[in-house]
Amino acid sequence: MSGPYASPRSGVSGSAMTLRVFRVLRQAGQPIVCLTAYDASFAAILDQAGIDLVLVGDSLGMVVQGHASTVPVTLDHMVYHTTLVARALKRAWLVADLPFLSYSDPSRALASAGRLLQEGGAKMVKLEGNAGQAAIVEALATNGIPVCAHLGLRPQSAYKIGGFRTAGRNRAEAEKMREDARRLEEAGADLLLLECVPSALAAEITQASQVPVIGIGAGASVDGQILVLYDILGLSQGIRPRFVENFLTGGRSIEEAVKAYADAVRNRTYPEPRHGFGS
Ligand code: KIV
Repeated sequence: MSGPYASPRSGVSGSAMTLRVFRVLRQAGQPIVCLTAYDASFAAILDQAGIDLVLVGDSLGMVVQGHASTVPVTLDHMVYHTTLVARALKRAWLVADLPFLSYSDPSRALASAGRLLQEGGAKMVKLEGNAGQAAIVEALATNGIPVCAHLGLRPQSAYKIGGFRTAGRNRAEAEKMREDARRLEEAGADLLLLECVPSALAAEITQASQVPVIGIGAGASVDGQILVLYDILGLSQGIRPRFVENFLTGGRSIEEAVKAYADAVRNRTYPEPRHGFGS
């Protein structure tokens, strides 16, 4: 038997990744390996290294455009960078971020997501949300658009919430995040992404969820890991969050660094407890 039916990890040898493969990997306890990319050259390296999911993140506003936040990123920027990445991917699942204010109501979200899929070539959109975005997720899902719901630290709301803060550290915030995750999943989200969430809370949300949960600064007990590409290559400027690990060390090439990251996630040597947050 060939393709994703043979074994959960059979996609590594060539079959394109699908949401179904992600669910099989979750059930088999095999970590899903994710990274961001913003152009074709890096995307090709990630694809060849066996990265399962590539995100064109609005982090491009910070690491590519040099802004202090993701707020200045527009839908046109996202569509442009998504087309660059889409051209290079053969196997990885391509997710594109809906940028700030591009999904403020269901019809705007549908129009924006439509551009990312039809012009950009994305297979899924990611939006930052809580239960307040459930109607938007539902509108996208009922129109056949796969959605990843990003909870925890939501960089697009950094001005409102007082900066880039770990989320869910007290009992009330933790309870709200559990409920937000439940509501977004019920509305049709196919993946959840938890950013800067205490490891124990991320583990609880993952256990309660029926869909795969990807973490960044959310500990090891989630179904997959994502990092910003420039962070694993030691290129990012400014404050280095504790979950960041530079894999471009010891004379490695970029290809070797990406493979080292993928291996570390699959072998569960990344993240270590020191990369996570307590409550
Ligand atoms: O924009 C981005 O790169 C992201 C990751 C940090 C998950 O949302």
